Amino acid sequence: MPLVQSVGMQPLVPATQAREITAAKRLENVRYAIRDLACVADEVIQQGHKILPLNIGDPLNFDFQTPSHIIEAVYKAMRDGKNGYAPSPGIPEALEAIRGEAARKGIATVRDVFVTSGASEAVDVCISALVNPGEDILTPKPDYPLYSAVLCKLGIALNAYDLNEDDAWQPELADIERKLTSRTRGIVLINPNNPTGSLCSQQMLEQIAEIARRYNLVVFSDEIYDKLILPDSTEDATPHVAFAAVAPDVPCITFGGMSKNYLVPGWRIGWGIVSGDAAAVTPYVEGIHRLLRARLCANHPEQYAIKPALEGPQDHLIEVRRKLRSRRDLTQKWCQFTPRVSCVAPRGAFYAFPRIDIPESDEVFVKELIRQKHVMVVHGSGFGQKPGTQHFRIVFLPDENTLTKAYAGIAEFIEERYGGA
Ligand SMILES: Cc1ncc(COP(=O)(O)O)c(C=O)c1O
Repeated sequence: MPLVQSVGMQPLVPATQAREITAAKRLENVRYAIRDLACVADEVIQQGHKILPLNIGDPLNFDFQTPSHIIEAVYKAMRDGKNGYAPSPGIPEALEAIRGEAARKGIATVRDVFVTSGASEAVDVCISALVNPGEDILTPKPDYPLYSAVLCKLGIALNAYDLNEDDAWQPELADIERKLTSRTRGIVLINPNNPTGSLCSQQMLEQIAEIARRYNLVVFSDEIYDKLILPDSTEDATPHVAFAAVAPDVPCITFGGMSKNYLVPGWRIGWGIVSGDAAAVTPYVEGIHRLLRARLCANHPEQYAIKPALEGPQDHLIEVRRKLRSRRDLTQKWCQFTPRVSCVAPRGAFYAFPRIDIPESDEVFVKELIRQKHVMVVHGSGFGQKPGTQHFRIVFLPDENTLTKAYAGIAEFIEERYGGA
């Protein structure tokens, strides 16, 4: 065996000592705000303090419970031997249930549905199946960081459009028009939104559909929180308006899943619903299925929970929304009465994104808040925001006592560090 091999003209010299293995350069722009905060939180925990976690988007860390009938369905599937690989697109009964759900959402032009390992995998597969090098996809700013992470992984330059805080965080149409180029293939909508908790108005969906038609864009409509709509009054459920219901002709992938609405984020079950003009979307759907086949399948036994979840009792949602509404109201009141803080009222999901008027960065704010008051939130810059503005994201899943304690700590911190506005 020769010790020195040749790669082209360069001799390859064997290493005599361990060298650093660097990560791919494309990953440099992948934001991972929580990681930086985790080090600070570890310091505080080592000093013997307990953290008040207003940063975790997992309902099962708090007083929310998975409906028992869907646990039984998975248990039965495992007992019945559904432990091998599933069909790549998903098991037939789950696909049929997702089609039923699409119909209830008012999506009339369904061309395909498939099951994935969480909505996250659907996002990854659908974006990967669409963009070529040199093309781009418009993503909202602020956004849920998965989108920019997938685009970075693919080596696609980021192209973010602003959400307008002065207009209840609606997409800024003028900015979308400014950012569009001949290489833009799609646009991401997150509705209800993480991190702002905002909802797109129907008029906004119609205007975005118009832009998508004009520029031949695929719309990626992330509706993972569509059953967690939080009306202002005591009325219970205000129906969510699906983009694909408003624009049946526009090529659209609606992302959904079990993590949030059915309280099983650890099962990793999500899906994509393809709608729009049939001839237009057919080649794209074939591309999506190539990738679905390559990754074999989503978790198999867990797919047996999809039908009972979507078609069975929905009682748990009444309780989930009641709790979230009360916690949203508490959060909103605190924002209203705390100097230097203002917040667009969240209307869905379990996030609030208050603005803070402070003379330093929100990252410093958040780190010092953990050190001094042991309250953990995430800085706005971790999600992207307009230059010159500062925010932080609150997850209002914890119970009222925990939230009250945390908000008292944040108010004290603001008063001590910056004084009243
Ligand atoms: C907007 C949004 N989309 C997708 C996901 C990921 O969902 P899943 O657990 O189904 O992968 C999340 C998770 O927090 C989210 O906030």
